[in-house]
Amino acid sequence: MARVENLFAVEGKSIVVTGAASGIGLAIAEAMATNGAKVTMADRDEAAVNREAMRLRDAGYATSAMTADITQDADVRRLFDSVIAREGRLDVVFANAGISGGPGFLRTDNSRNPDTAFEAIADELWDRVIDTNVHGVIRTLRAAIPQMKKQGGGKIVVTSSISSMKIEQYVGSSYVVSKAAVGQIVRQVAIELAGYNINVNAIAPGPAITNIGGGRLKDAAARAPFEKVNPMHRVATPEDMQGAALFLASRASDYITGIHIVIDGGLLLGQAD
Ligand SMILES: NC(=O)c1ccc[n+]([C@@H]2O[C@H](COP(=O)([O-])OP(=O)(O)OC[C@H]3O[C@@H](n4cnc5c(N)ncnc54)[C@H](O)[C@@H]3O)[C@@H](O)[C@H]2O)c1
Repeated sequence: MARVENLFAVEGKSIVVTGAASGIGLAIAEAMATNGAKVTMADRDEAAVNREAMRLRDAGYATSAMTADITQDADVRRLFDSVIAREGRLDVVFANAGISGGPGFLRTDNSRNPDTAFEAIADELWDRVIDTNVHGVIRTLRAAIPQMKKQGGGKIVVTSSISSMKIEQYVGSSYVVSKAAVGQIVRQVAIELAGYNINVNAIAPGPAITNIGGGRLKDAAARAPFEKVNPMHRVATPEDMQGAALFLASRASDYITGIHIVIDGGLLLGQAD
């Protein structure tokens, strides 16, 4: 039946969200949990993930917290082993955790920032951003896929970014490069897993008010240049991601794989007024 409550249902599904203690991951976990999913909220921030999972549990939802750092293969494997041992299956994985690469080569007043010029970016930053945003997604998918194959299907949703599709002036180059790789991981794994009934898709947010990069978009002055160029004249909130997350987690998207759902207020289209 094509009623919303059937088509978009996630009730009873075993769902893992990485980076679930904050921002977009937290909003996704909330959307899943409030619609009846059993959500394992994973994050490297132990105190925050325990607090948020407890808050949702106290409100009557089926959430549990796991401390896991996606840069540590043993953590990621422990996360999925424990979910499978507890729930017996793994229906949906949101590979969402990611970090900023710092500011871009332009300051938001459009002056050049010598400290963030391409040739000034340190190996340590490249390594940290690629290890988290690229290898972290690889580790997460690698640990999730065997169970999904075993049970005859599943859904993987990666948090990519519009930085996977466009260049950025105000966003660090290491981040842009990392998300470009994420975009190709999604397409490459999607075609490999299509025959196993495993959908692999992405959401691609534009700038969103979260804690990433020190939470700089929480500051109205820092946000203003992003709002100015956005056709909707606002940046995203984490809640703006919830509709697409429910779509990609539910049977409504069963015949869709390898795509990015762009959630950017029209930013990729260009500037309006
Ligand atoms: N906020 C934006 O403007 C924006 C835009 C496009 C894409 N994204 C992407 O959205 C995703 C979520 O970011 P957010 O904006 O919600 O940021 P956030 O900082 O609010 O939340 C990210 C969460 O991931 C966790 N995390 C970071 N590194 C981790 C690791 N190694 N292991 C486990 N957990 C880790 C953090 O502790 C935090 O709780 C990221 O992949 C980010 O690149 C964000």
